[in-house]
Amino acid sequence: MDHVRRHAMRRRIAIGLRRELMSDIRRFALVTGASSGIGMAYAEHLASRGYDLILVARRGDRLEAIAHKIRAQEGRQVVTYVADLSDPDDLLGLERMLRENEDVDVLVNNAGLGALGSTASAGVDALENLVRINVLALTRLSCAALAGFRRRGHGILINIASVIALAPSATAAAYSGSKAYVLNFSRSLQLECAGSGIVVQTVLPGPVRTEFFEASGVCSSIFSEHLFISADELVAAALKALDMKELVCFPTLPDIAAWDEFENARTSFSKSLVTVGRPSPRYAG
Ligand SMILES: NC(=O)c1ccc[n+]([C@@H]2O[C@H](COP(=O)([O-])OP(=O)(O)OC[C@H]3O[C@@H](n4cnc5c(N)ncnc54)[C@H](OP(=O)(O)O)[C@@H]3O)[C@@H](O)[C@H]2O)c1
Repeated sequence: MDHVRRHAMRRRIAIGLRRELMSDIRRFALVTGASSGIGMAYAEHLASRGYDLILVARRGDRLEAIAHKIRAQEGRQVVTYVADLSDPDDLLGLERMLRENEDVDVLVNNAGLGALGSTASAGVDALENLVRINVLALTRLSCAALAGFRRRGHGILINIASVIALAPSATAAAYSGSKAYVLNFSRSLQLECAGSGIVVQTVLPGPVRTEFFEASGVCSSIFSEHLFISADELVAAALKALDMKELVCFPTLPDIAAWDEFENARTSFSKSLVTVGRPSPRYAG
């Protein structure tokens, strides 16, 4: 997007937010990848929880249609922000808007893609694009939002990972790696923010019925149909988990005790990695 259009858009958003604040105290949630699937469901749920919205994606016509529906149904203010998160200038513009604006209480870093298949068939350019969106944009937008949250002493950051964060895969190498990054990055941020009034939640969906598989260049039948949930069910569960202060949310995990068990094993294993200051005897000779 060119500089003049970006500047005009930021100005319109700033004026819109100020106008709202003069009449009423209103809080905004910014959702990336809000033009379909899980992002659209977050927009709808957060609006029904009383948030005004800033919706971000590339497809402005889709964003406008969703914004129109939410304005009509929920009476919330909805601002659309067209940006390609793989474009450094677009990303910088969005970061600047997040840093400068005192009204955004929630950031949902949802935009993402799969570039599925073998690394050879996906191609290195597609993998780079995936890293730009799933990793780089999520990191930079998290930092921009946290700067404001720290100033105000509160805020909610929701980062969308995937169950594949815990499962290396021959047909999703970069995707699995990117979501493992999202999981560890977000959990580390939560440790950094402990006791500050800032909440960082990581959501790890299994298969969700959206445009994701189509957009990632494969057909959805790699999972059988009965394993899919809807984006609406996913977001309802993840927001309920947020209410329950579940900061790592597996929406389809039947029993949370299994995660606690996994975490205990991981913690004791990671402690065993740094108990002695010498190479293991099995590597001697
Ligand atoms: N569906 C699943 O089974 C599943 C499972 C686990 C995790 N997830 C994660 O859930 C998140 C949402 O995926 P979804 O299932 O809702 O898929 P989706 O329906 O394909 O939605 C992806 C969203 O990301 C946006 N996006 C993609 N590239 C972008 C770019 N360069 N700049 C800005 N926005 C971009 C798309 O908007 P535009 O095309 O309009 O830009 C769209 O709104 C992703 O992070 C995904 O990894 C999905």
